[in-house]
Amino acid sequence: MTDDELIALARAAALKAYAPYSRFSVGCAVMSVNGEVVTGANLENACYRLGLCAEQSALTAAQHAFGLAKVARVAVAGGDGSGAELKGEAPVTPCGGCRQALLEASLLGGRDIEVVCASGDGAAVERHQLSALIPHGFGPAALGDSG
Ligand code: THU
Repeated sequence: MTDDELIALARAAALKAYAPYSRFSVGCAVMSVNGEVVTGANLENACYRLGLCAEQSALTAAQHAFGLAKVARVAVAGGDGSGAELKGEAPVTPCGGCRQALLEASLLGGRDIEVVCASGDGAAVERHQLSALIPHGFGPAALGDSG
């Protein structure tokens, strides 16, 4: 699947966001090493801090569909999802918590993850390796000194 196709799936997923509080709809498409794709969207809550990001929603779907260890590439897009198509000009990069969640999948699979960050309208795209988005991350090895 091309980056453009993965972005299109992320943009479509964003239209299913439940984001009445921020009115910022985010979609994420996660592709496996074998080309399988799952999607997710942000899921907000009246208790604001309990909201779930699109990436973590998509990672949960990936866990069930093919397993976190097989995550190879993700696309993220976000913006105004109130119309028939997602709108917005600025590429959306994963928040810190989502980078941490992606890091767990990356370490489990022993591979870097490509992160394709798109604007809501899909026109602006940034590509990053997860390792560049979360250098010096806290992973399972950091728990080596636990009691
Ligand atoms: N959001 C995501 O879904 N992913 C990110 O990486 C950044 C932020 C969501 C959380 C919240 O529902 C809305 O965007 C505004 O922060």
